[in-house]
Amino acid sequence: MRLSRYFMPVLKETPAEAQIASHRLMLRAGMIKQAGAGIYSWLPLGFKVLRKIETIVHDEQQRAGHIPMLMPTVQSAELWRESGRYDDYGKEMLRITDRHGRDMLYGPTNEELITDIFRSHVSSYRDLPLTLYHIQWKFRDEVRPRFGVMRGREFYMKDGYNFDVDRDSAIHAYNRHMVSYLRSYERMGLKAIPMRAASGPIGGDDTHEFLVLAETGESEVFYDAAITDLELGTRAVDYDDRAQCEAIVRKWTAPYARTDETHDEALFAQVPEAQRRSSRGIEVGQIFYFGTKYSEAMGATVTNDEGQVVPVHMGSHGIGVSRLLGAIIEASHDEKGIIWPEGVTPFDVGIVNLRQGDGDCDAACEALYGGLRAAGLDPLYDDRDERAGAKFASMDLIGLPWRITVGPRGLKNGVVELTSRRSGESEEVSAEAAIARIAEIYGQVRAAAMPS
Ligand SMILES: Nc1ncnc2c1ncn2[C@@H]1O[C@H](COP(=O)(O)OP(=O)(O)O)[C@@H](O)[C@H]1O
Ligand SMILES: [Mg+2]
Repeated sequence: MRLSRYFMPVLKETPAEAQIASHRLMLRAGMIKQAGAGIYSWLPLGFKVLRKIETIVHDEQQRAGHIPMLMPTVQSAELWRESGRYDDYGKEMLRITDRHGRDMLYGPTNEELITDIFRSHVSSYRDLPLTLYHIQWKFRDEVRPRFGVMRGREFYMKDGYNFDVDRDSAIHAYNRHMVSYLRSYERMGLKAIPMRAASGPIGGDDTHEFLVLAETGESEVFYDAAITDLELGTRAVDYDDRAQCEAIVRKWTAPYARTDETHDEALFAQVPEAQRRSSRGIEVGQIFYFGTKYSEAMGATVTNDEGQVVPVHMGSHGIGVSRLLGAIIEASHDEKGIIWPEGVTPFDVGIVNLRQGDGDCDAACEALYGGLRAAGLDPLYDDRDERAGAKFASMDLIGLPWRITVGPRGLKNGVVELTSRRSGESEEVSAEAAIARIAEIYGQVRAAAMPS
């Protein structure tokens, strides 16, 4: 993309309504525009990152054997009356009446719809295990929407639902979700810690939340520092192997890690003092095993291998896709702007032409732009007729992890400047070497995306 042809309405002023860095930076970088309280338009740069995060979530869910589908945003109240949640959900549910006077609602989640789909089509254990998921907009009429996309009213969420014949098989589904979530967050360049959580309106006893450590997080968290050293990396995972998934879950849930809701001082005191940490965290996902709560209420049953009719064991599992943009920025920014991890960056590399209109500089930038694209990369070329300072400031603000700077002085020596946004370090290399280096870096990112 050439910046002169793109739509990236960068703001010079810091918007007064934004209280935290991620909200401020997303507005300043022209990623989102507020359309109403807790409701946002996703401008091209923000939309690009949203799609990258969504793609990682899709990849990892399908790798775990979970099946994508799509359910509607607007639902009929009938199913929610069946489960008993139409009244329970309270004011957070946006209730709508259609022209025929029928009660409708904008879905805050999808347990009822998916259970109805299941009971209409599945009746035998032979069709299990089954995990269906979708990524769809949700609406929750939050009292205090704030922090931009972090606590919106309309937000984008992945929600998945497992159906299993018994508890053991449902716990395996729970474990698969935990492992695939850990891998998803790692690919986004995030450290998200699974913490034992309280269950809330969804119900059930087995539940973990995934928290990204950040001062601006809404939850207070307590953990054993040992947990932050754990890394899944690129190890191959066989999602059909129950013991393997369970071993990973055991490892990640062994160190103490809880939110204020489930925190237990006595247990925490058993963690060696030097390893005890308390801080704040942003919830970026949650997994639940809730047994037969919905299947019993809604008559979702199967015949088991002994011919008995039993309610299915279910769980539901969510990732806050739109919230993740805010969480990643909270975890990765500095005073100049965002610092995107390579896995989710809107563009792979920025090209800054220090002297737009100079024949040599323009030609070198064009060659670089073409070379990067030919290598399968996605560069953003700042070809505007702007001062160097303004170009650097925009690049730092939007946070591409790599920048290639082309100027007349370097060109005389046959070099361009390759700069890391994260470390701020620069090296002078030939244009070819810069392309090769960027291709190598993103080659590693793509390798992580390959099925193992
Ligand atoms: N108002 C919101 N705005 C943005 N993301 C949200 C919002 N509410 C929930 N999410 C995201 O969706 C994920 C799954 O939702 P869930 O656990 O049902 O929500 P909650 O914890 O608020 O009850 C959460 O972990 C969070 O990342
Ligand atoms: Mg939650």
